[in-house]
Parts: sequence; C-alpha cells; structure tokens
Amino acid sequence: MDQNSAVFQMAANRLRQATGVVVFTGAGMSAESGIPTFRDAEGLWHQFPPQRFATLPGLLASAVAQPRRVAEFLIALLGPIACARPNPGHLAIARLEAHKPVVVVTQNIDGLHQQAGSSTVYEIHGSMLRIVGRGRRPLRRLSRAELATVVDDLREVIGSRGFAFPQLLRAIEPIFATGITHYHRPDVVLFGETMAEPDWSQAITAVQNCDCLIAVGTSGTVMPAAALLDEVPQQATVINIDPAGGPGELQLRGPAGTVLPALVEAACGP
Ligand code: APR
Repeated sequence: MDQNSAVFQMAANRLRQATGVVVFTGAGMSAESGIPTFRDAEGLWHQFPPQRFATLPGLLASAVAQPRRVAEFLIALLGPIACARPNPGHLAIARLEAHKPVVVVTQNIDGLHQQAGSSTVYEIHGSMLRIVGRGRRPLRRLSRAELATVVDDLREVIGSRGFAFPQLLRAIEPIFATGITHYHRPDVVLFGETMAEPDWSQAITAVQNCDCLIAVGTSGTVMPAAALLDEVPQQATVINIDPAGGPGELQLRGPAGTVLPALVEAACGP
C-alpha cells in the first residue's frame, strides 16, 4: 500500500474531516495477533466445516461422534485467543479516539479492541471472554489465562488412551457445562443464533449516524453482520483495509497492522 497514492491521501483527508467514525472489523483485524481467519486459504472453516463446528446442534453432535476432532477445533480456535495481544492496528484505532468520536463494531470474539484501549466496542458476535447462563444471563468474565488452562487441559487429555466424550466435557467444564441444575457457555453467537444484544442494535444506530466507516479485515460474506454496510449514509465515506480488497469506495490494500497506523498518523498526526 503506497502512502503517497491518491487513494491513500484521499482516505486520510476524509478521516481527518470525519466527525463520527465507525470501524467495522472482521477476523483479518486480528490475523497479525496470531488469530486465524475463517475463509482465507488456511482459514478455520476450511479445516473445520462450520455446519459441524459452529452451530450448537452440529457442535454437540460432533462432540459425541468425534470428540477428538472437537477438541482439535477448540484448541485451534481458543489457543490463539488465549495468548493474543493487540497488534499495531488495534492500537491505532484506540489512538484515533483522542482525535474524534470512534465506535468499534467487531465480528471478532477475542476482546483485543478493548485490551488495546478502545472505549466503545460493540461485539456483535459476542465474546469468548465472557461466560453466560441460560438466556445469555451474564455469569462471569473469563481471563486469557483461564482460557489457556482449558486449552492446556485439552492438549493433555486429547492424547490420553480412551479419550471420549466424557473426558472432553470434563476438560471444557470451565467454559461449557449442560445439565438439569446448571448450564453455562461462552457468550459467543453461533450460526443460526440471534445476534448479541444490545450490541447489534447499537451497532446499526452507530453506522446510520457515521460520516466515515472503515471496514477492516472482513470478507463481508456473513449475514446479518455484512448488511451493516447497507446502513451507511449515502454521503458517508467507506474505506476498506484488506490485502484482498473488499466493500468500500476507497480501497487500501494491505495488512491492518501496517495500514491503520499509517492512515491514523496521516489523518491525525503522530
Ligand atoms: N489485515 C487485514 N485483512 C486481512 C488480513 C490482515 N492482516 N489477513 C486477512 N485479511 C482479510 C482477508 O482477506 C479476508 O477478507 O480478512 C478477511 C477475513 O475474512 P473471514 O475469514 O471471512 O472473516 P470475517 O469476515 O470476520 O467472517 C465473518 O463469519 O464465520 C463467521 O463468526 C465468524 O465473525 C466471523 C464471520
């Protein structure tokens, strides 16, 4: 991405003039924090088909029929989140708040925007760092260290003889349990479930009132999240940051961890 290009300069000017910014992020935002995306060549869904691993019925059926594969999926999904840190792209978005109102709308469940210092973050697919009960009643926060312990337990038990569904359930008990007297799960939105509220409604309102939306690292293929882009006001600017390109008037093709710091500095100074 050439910082002297006309499109980069135009994006920086529009961001400088903006009075209300929404940053809409997908898995590519956290790729440089070591968290895999879903649909890239090495994406998670290529290894673990979402119909079997990202719907509650599919996950439960897979856990009974293929407990080892579910353990491998959970290690692949949770391991990187447990040891992730905000990358320069997350930090640049947080720095932008010193210059103008910024709302982050994220499809990611990794909590990295908040850890980077962003103060208004709508997690429309929920968060892996929160545990909820029935009816999504908030129960407690989950630390990355606790998540890492679950991953370590899964890595240990997966290699044991006779590993089966009961051993899988025991290993993930801190994050998931289902029974007559108790039920808890991660506060994440699986396919086929309703979007996280009030975040989803607040995200729609924020997009409808922005004059600049920066889409970062999203393939824009999953509904209803991708429909947010239809809510952007006609006169607003849409900037897209993604090596593969994506929806938006101004395309900055490059990695979030490089493009966002350059864009924020060009728009608002060092
Ligand atoms: N910087 C910016 N963008 C990147 C980077 C990077 N370093 N690396 C990859 N990308 C881009 C890819 O080119 C792709 O366009 O990130 C995008 C990732 O797309 P997906 O894997 O489809 O992720 P996402 O758009 O967030 O998926 C949306 O689908 O499966 C559900 O719940 C899941 O929230 C997820 C939703």
